[in-house]
Amino acid sequence: MTPELLVRLLKNWKPQSILEIGTGYGVMAHYFSHRYPEARVLGVDLNEKRIVTAQATVKGRSGIEFRHENILTLPEESYDLLVMQDVIHHVGLGNQELLIAKTWRLLRPGGRLLLRDIDGDRLVGTFNAFIWDLVLNWERCHFVAKASLQAMFSKAGYKHVEVFPDYPHSPIFPYVTCIAHKENHAVTE
Ligand SMILES: C[S@@+](CC[C@H](N)C(=O)[O-])C[C@H]1O[C@@H](n2cnc3c(N)ncnc32)[C@H](O)[C@@H]1O
Repeated sequence: MTPELLVRLLKNWKPQSILEIGTGYGVMAHYFSHRYPEARVLGVDLNEKRIVTAQATVKGRSGIEFRHENILTLPEESYDLLVMQDVIHHVGLGNQELLIAKTWRLLRPGGRLLLRDIDGDRLVGTFNAFIWDLVLNWERCHFVAKASLQAMFSKAGYKHVEVFPDYPHSPIFPYVTCIAHKENHAVTE
């Protein structure tokens, strides 16, 4: 199951505050809330209908919340862990760099960004994903090559980024997973 495979990459680290960016219906946020019961989890999404559905799934559970927000204008609190799955390719080309820069400002020093997205270097996979999003959502997506992602991380301030190509493995939609670390001594401008 994908969320468990992603959590494995975090090893024994236990985040206390988690923000899921582009949470959609909140499935991943719920997974993280169950997996880290001590943590406060917030899921945000630009799509109000999805957030209303996600809010209906909370059913009185504490420690998890969903809010209708554009990540680019979200007030800058700090989180231990940011989770962002299948989001960057839905963001316009001009905003992708702003999005990664925003994640840096939302992390506390010592925090991590867990990003999973379609690998823009894998032509067959990006073609499949492009057609999928065009047909199902009437949306033209912008897949990012690994070198471009690395450049965005570096420009944002991330010095240590772990890259896991083809993880978790999918023959139809090839993914790349990255963990970008904000060092403890990192200075936020
Ligand atoms: C393909 S869905 C992924 C949902 C979820 N992360 C998952 O893996 O199931 C992409 C989501 O990103 C959201 N999104 C795109 N741009 C956003 C932004 N600027 N701020 C917040 N959410 C955004 C979209 O509304 C959409 O729900």
